[in-house]
Amino acid sequence: MERIERGIGPIILLGPPGAGKGTQAQRIAERYGIPQISTGDILREHVQRGTDLGAQAKDIMARGELVPDELIYGMVASRLRHADCERGFVLDGFPRTPAQAGWLDAFLEHEFFENQHREQCLPIVIRIDVDYNQLLRRLTGRRSCPTCGRIYNIYSQPPQVPEVCDDDSSRLVIRNDDREEVIRERLNAYELQTKPVAEYYDSKRRLVSVNGDLPVDKVTAQIMRVIEDHRADAANLS
Ligand code: AP5
Repeated sequence: MERIERGIGPIILLGPPGAGKGTQAQRIAERYGIPQISTGDILREHVQRGTDLGAQAKDIMARGELVPDELIYGMVASRLRHADCERGFVLDGFPRTPAQAGWLDAFLEHEFFENQHREQCLPIVIRIDVDYNQLLRRLTGRRSCPTCGRIYNIYSQPPQVPEVCDDDSSRLVIRNDDREEVIRERLNAYELQTKPVAEYYDSKRRLVSVNGDLPVDKVTAQIMRVIEDHRADAANLS
């Protein structure tokens, strides 16, 4: 994929579990040369390393509930302060509550916009809409590479050799929370706690929705169009 060098600012991907946030975030990150920041991945890393944060988050995640906001803020702030975020970043799985969205706006205002042109760096917020019935099938069919993080699906995006990563030959794994009863709890948490985040951005006229029911490449094409339109508007402002 062609890589684009100009800075881009924050991109936020919203959508229910299984919508394709991680899949699309990887593609955006590669295309624009910016980091993908997945709060789910960072939390799973903490659980694996057995940190204090991981110990506090482990059981909550296994039940499919949201980790309390106060545990998330410090983790996100320290990641966003890395130098690799200066040109922009793509957030996947954050913000997940209206309080997290308000926190992010305040963080960007105080720390990110300081050295940047504010109007050109307002977040691009993209919600990936997917039919509810598709989500269960996507999540139960998901496999991921523990080494490089690449995401597969046994139904729609299978690896060339079953259960083996195409890129580094690692054995693929099933996420702990991709069991049916936990998936239902995650979808429930999305309906109750995360859906209002889209309303938060919509009220600020920053939300754009794409059809996530389409094949992966077609979803990517829609997202890239949204990003490029936003960049063209921002360039006209400068
Ligand atoms: P997190 O890791 O963020 O999980 P999630 O939001 O539930 O989302 P997923 O990663 O399951 O789905 P996705 O949208 O990324 O889809 P993917 O691209 O993989 O969070 C996990 C837990 O951490 C939470 O439950 C919570 O406890 C905690 N947490 C994380 N962030 C938090 C926060 N900010 N606050 C509080 N708690 C937090 O795709 C899914 C499958 O579908 C794949 O197999 C893929 O190949 C396939 N697929 C993708 N697109 C398509 C397509 N267009 N067509 C067909 N198949 C497709």
